[in-house]
Amino acid sequence: MNNNNSTITVNNLTKRFGSFIAVDDVSFEVKKGEVFGFLGPNGAGKTTTIRMLCGLLDPDGGSGSVAGFDVKKESEQIKASIGYMSQKFSLYEDLTVFENLDFYAGVYDVDPKIRGMRIGEIIKMAGLVGREGELTSNLALGFKQRLALGGAILHKPPVLFLDEPTSGVDPRSRKNFWKLIYQLAEAGTTVLVTTHYMTEAEFCQKLALMYQGKIIASGTPAEFKNLVPGAADLDEVFVSLVERERK
Ligand SMILES: Nc1ncnc2c1ncn2[C@@H]1O[C@H](COP(=O)(O)OP(=O)(O)OP(=O)(O)O)[C@@H](O)[C@H]1O
Ligand SMILES: [Mg+2]
Repeated sequence: MNNNNSTITVNNLTKRFGSFIAVDDVSFEVKKGEVFGFLGPNGAGKTTTIRMLCGLLDPDGGSGSVAGFDVKKESEQIKASIGYMSQKFSLYEDLTVFENLDFYAGVYDVDPKIRGMRIGEIIKMAGLVGREGELTSNLALGFKQRLALGGAILHKPPVLFLDEPTSGVDPRSRKNFWKLIYQLAEAGTTVLVTTHYMTEAEFCQKLALMYQGKIIASGTPAEFKNLVPGAADLDEVFVSLVERERK
């Protein structure tokens, strides 16, 4: 295990696709129970970084550890220690609510003795009590989102990666979703979340802003605002920091 209780440690991580550098020498650290916001314009390299940390994509350079495991050498252990909610919610539309969760319980090897109880807890968390037999395709997007989160945390992973979990979801559902994120973090789960909504960035304890494969700023939301004196809000800070890099 790594020391100083940091649950995600990334050092000089790099990923190339041919001659294009999608992730360029990226380093950061996320501590246990922290909600870490990963920001950046489209194509910045956020998803590619997450995929390397989930053990789904081999880095070309640098190193990283997640929940004490090496991203290059221990991808199987990492897969068992994380929850990953991808940018496209990975749900089977033609399965029922219960069947989707039962499927994930199998994938994550949740002990059959506690499987029923755990699925029940998740159905409650998702606000889907009484709708277990409903086809997933019939659910409103906010419910699908909570069901997808439920699938990702059935095995109670210590580290959770959420890639744009709230995109396309209405403000009330987003608010409810963030309540769930907070509950998980308070219970000790480390959360790395990407978002294009600066109102959500405000909810994160730490932020990193990525642009063209590099982290161009990092710190607390308050520290971010200090980087651009006079900026009205995080949206302005974000745009201004990216513009500076463009010059
Ligand atoms: N498998 C791949 N092969 C080639 N290029 C890729 C591949 N995956 C990603 N890229 C490129 O790498 C860059 C970073 O992509 P990535 O998906 O990580 O960005 P992102 O920050 O997640 O963007 P978004 O906010 O749109 O989700 C983009 O230019 C993308 O086209
Ligand atoms: Mg992405």
